[in-house]
Amino acid sequence: MTPLEGKNVVLGVTGGIAAYKACELVSRLRKAGAQVYVIMTQHACQFVAPLTFETLSNHPAVTDTFARPETWEVEHIALAKRADVFVVAPATANILAKMAHGIADDMLSTTVLATKAPVLVAPAMNTGMWENAATRENVKLLRQRGIRFIGPEGGFLACGDTGAGRMSEPKDIFAEITNILHPRLDMEGLRVLVTAGPTQERIDPVRYISNRSSGKMGYAIAEAAAKRGARVTLVTGPVSLSVPEGVEAVKILSTQDLYDAMTARCPDTDIVIQAAAPADFAPATVAEQKIKKQGDGDLVLTLRQNPDVAAQVGRLKRPGQVLVGFAAETNDVLKNAAAKLQKKNLDMIVANDVTAPGAGFDVDTNIVTFVTQEKQETLPCLPKTQVAEELLDRAMMIFQKQKR
Ligand code: CTP
Repeated sequence: MTPLEGKNVVLGVTGGIAAYKACELVSRLRKAGAQVYVIMTQHACQFVAPLTFETLSNHPAVTDTFARPETWEVEHIALAKRADVFVVAPATANILAKMAHGIADDMLSTTVLATKAPVLVAPAMNTGMWENAATRENVKLLRQRGIRFIGPEGGFLACGDTGAGRMSEPKDIFAEITNILHPRLDMEGLRVLVTAGPTQERIDPVRYISNRSSGKMGYAIAEAAAKRGARVTLVTGPVSLSVPEGVEAVKILSTQDLYDAMTARCPDTDIVIQAAAPADFAPATVAEQKIKKQGDGDLVLTLRQNPDVAAQVGRLKRPGQVLVGFAAETNDVLKNAAAKLQKKNLDMIVANDVTAPGAGFDVDTNIVTFVTQEKQETLPCLPKTQVAEELLDRAMMIFQKQKR
């Protein structure tokens, strides 16, 4: 069987000289067994004739040239639904701007707005346009929403300039499409334990102490590991997220519950990733009845320190096991993270400044630094789903190294 047999690729082609390279992409996809449906903008039709794409794809190329808006309504939904992956190559600054702002005024922009398939974009434009603040913002927005990018590459451009703006080569775009359609199963059979969310520490029957953790980071890690073939157990505090497909969830409330769940499970695990934000303190006593106002006086609560779950998991660590923790910091981020790495016997700690815009609690993005004994590596602001993949890549590298 050819690698992309039975897969539907919708390819949007916009108006740039790189449109001719999209022909080669169609040809590669077809040879790999994919069905390719091409949508061309009016400007794309100036660079390459629709007939070329029709012949290569063996399907009609959808163009706007003569279509009335009513015909989009039917066709664009059908194509949007059919796509297993939606690729825009080449993508001009114009289509990026439209995609970033939800503008749907032709067949391509309308269809890409309607699709639920993963979207891959291969930009191609003049360096000045690529570097323009408007394009930079649009790319950032799209990335944050999970749109994947390939390129552009640097080099000599058709306009005579040299710099970033050249569309990636069709073979590289093809490889990325294959990657999206056939996710890696590099974690097949591994047992992965992930923690996520806040804890709740009871004060009385109606009150508790908690924190702002949304659980998004831990849930993204659990989902990504399951997709890569791991057997995942997610020990989760109370959050409003649904448990990812194929993941076993263990619900806990307090840090003590988390401690019990983790110490029982960690010996049977290959990789432990602790993204939860357990409360460090809990009320020393829990009132059995709702605490009433104390006249005009203040209420004094005594808090006792909770066990440090990660430190205990670190003590129980067995050879070959990989332990990853998080460090939520507001100051001296890397210094504090490096100290936690030692104290909790971790192989890697993911440090983030929770006060930075685009990082920390209840946002879909994060800015992290991976800290190990050997090095520190800071990534740009990325969707938490992508941070999850980067984290697992590194955890896997450590795991393989320890096995050798
Ligand atoms: N952690 C834990 N048990 C706790 C507190 C934290 O297992 N009682 C884990 C977290 O899941 C995270 C790591 O330890 O992986 C670091 O958490 P963080 O809140 O940044 O650090 P603390 O150890 O609580 O230190 P401090 O609050 O003093 O910065």
